[in-house]
Amino acid sequence: MTADVLVVIGAGAIGQAIARRTGVGKQILLADINTDSLAATADLMETSGYNVRTEPVDVSSRESVRELAAVAADLGPVTGVVHTAGLSPVQAPVEALLRVDLVGVALVLEEFGRVIAPGGSGIVISSMAGHMIPALAPEQDEALARTAADELMQLPFLQGLPNSGAAYTISKRANALRVQAAAVEWGDRGARINSISPGIIFTPLAMDELNSAGGPRYREMMKVSAAGRGGTPDEVGAAAAYLMGPDGAFITGSDLLIDGGVIAAMRAGRL
Ligand SMILES: NC(=O)c1ccc[n+]([C@@H]2O[C@H](COP(=O)([O-])OP(=O)(O)OC[C@H]3O[C@@H](n4cnc5c(N)ncnc54)[C@H](O)[C@@H]3O)[C@@H](O)[C@H]2O)c1
Repeated sequence: MTADVLVVIGAGAIGQAIARRTGVGKQILLADINTDSLAATADLMETSGYNVRTEPVDVSSRESVRELAAVAADLGPVTGVVHTAGLSPVQAPVEALLRVDLVGVALVLEEFGRVIAPGGSGIVISSMAGHMIPALAPEQDEALARTAADELMQLPFLQGLPNSGAAYTISKRANALRVQAAAVEWGDRGARINSISPGIIFTPLAMDELNSAGGPRYREMMKVSAAGRGGTPDEVGAAAAYLMGPDGAFITGSDLLIDGGVIAAMRAGRL
């Protein structure tokens, strides 16, 4: 019997945690732009009893994402898609960040929306950063949600963003809007799609931020939050398993903020 296929895009810390939590007994297709970390993660997971295939992908390229979707569909019924590939503000300049964090998510939703199996479900990892900015104008929300992926980079209000932080924040706001819009087409196929907006999760990406000039602000966020700490990749894995599994069957087009209370503290003026 052909095993269900779980596609995990982004072999980083959060991708690994979700793959371990949701990939038991499945054919995992692990994809990343970094072929070294892809091979290392696959090795580690295989020696822990997981069935892993790897495929390089650049999520900012439609051809590359389409090819990955075709490989996945050839392996068997694609019942799970987990999109965690991303760059943080200190890792890339504005344009590269928009291409990966904004356009990459849109491409994955479109291309995997064509191969997801009935009864399948997907998760996009967004960020609490998307919850930090004030509401956008309704026309901007609409444009971020529905502009064709290949035209997103030309949106007027994305021109001349001051820095990578601004590009990250608007990309992550867009991720949740995009997921809600895509839930309609995914629903037509009998599938669900949701996003998770994590706060500070201890991963190499977060360490890059904590060790940057913005580090003290991140530490302050953890300090004033209700949890008083950062999160772990496994806590994001648990949330993903809930949303993707049978207990989440009535949830689609939704965004789950899992930040230990940072945004609540921010809104209460504690930052
Ligand atoms: N760690 C946190 O504190 C935190 C908080 C909020 C949101 N997030 C989001 O979670 C997601 C995963 O982050 P992580 O902490 O696991 O980071 P990570 O750096 O461990 O993993 C990210 C992975 O994405 C891959 N990647 C980057 N560009 C790519 C591209 N063009 N195509 C394919 N793969 C690409 C990287 O090679 C890396 O393996 C990101 O979208 C990030 O913005 C993380």
